[in-house]
Amino acid sequence: MSHLSQKHLLGIKNITKNDIDLILSTAQNFKEVINRPIKKVPSLRDITVANLFFENSTRTRLSFELAQKRLSADVINFSASNSSVKKGETLVDTVNNILAMKVDMIVMRHSSPGAAVFLAKRVNAKIVNAGDGAHEHPTQALLDAFSIQEKLGSLKDKKIVIVGDILHSRVALSNIFCLQKLGAKVKVCGPQTLIPKYITSLGVEVELDLKKALEWCDVANMLRIQLERQDIKFFPSLREYSMLYGLNKSLLDSLNKKIVIMHPGPINRGVEITSDVADSEQSIILEQVENGVAVRMAVMYLLAGKQD
Ligand code: CP
Repeated sequence: MSHLSQKHLLGIKNITKNDIDLILSTAQNFKEVINRPIKKVPSLRDITVANLFFENSTRTRLSFELAQKRLSADVINFSASNSSVKKGETLVDTVNNILAMKVDMIVMRHSSPGAAVFLAKRVNAKIVNAGDGAHEHPTQALLDAFSIQEKLGSLKDKKIVIVGDILHSRVALSNIFCLQKLGAKVKVCGPQTLIPKYITSLGVEVELDLKKALEWCDVANMLRIQLERQDIKFFPSLREYSMLYGLNKSLLDSLNKKIVIMHPGPINRGVEITSDVADSEQSIILEQVENGVAVRMAVMYLLAGKQD
């Protein structure tokens, strides 16, 4: 079995292009598997995985669980809201108690940036970061890269613009690392207040005008405004945000080419993207979700094969 150079998947920043290529090619094989009448393989029959979600999720949580079931792993699910975390148990104690039940791999979403790295240093299990605060969301970036590759071929020299709330977005950061490692050119676009100053140090260009950004790109990844992470107002109102940075059909149709539209979900319809764009034939939003299962199967399969 080929395997990754890392024991964990904590982020995209510190993994190699070879690792990314291996995950994407393995995901291609798993995509074929899950399109068969019998969608299950025995690859993780001897592995037990715990899904620890300390923050809300629909796509990532269900996608990981389905991926584990398609790989024949044993699965347990934990959500912080109805656990003993509410009684004051620490993260490390919680995880060590779960590992005492002979669990091999932890998939964790947490609201604290760095939570997955923190855990990986303190417990004896393979850790997959399913999103840690505004830090990284590595499997989202991998499924986004897989989906672009499926639609447009190699990412080399493809132009991708990430639009919206870059400041609070783990999807933006992981996508920037992943797309650049695969040879794509990346711009970010949004209100100046939602673009962190350090972003240009990552080799990313900033474009404040949405129409210019869309005219430049092959792919636009429209991010959700993360009101739950905003403790102050970064723009006057959602209506004004939508007028300047929302993607609607007349703006899309005014471009002189057909670009690919992506969104990691959940969508705020009518804010960052209108329904007629989200549901248009240029949108690959549901393909992203479909590909998430194959990509997460690949990640867990490859990590399981990595010796400590
Ligand atoms: N894209 C994404 O992470 O969605 P969820 O928050 O629903 O998992």
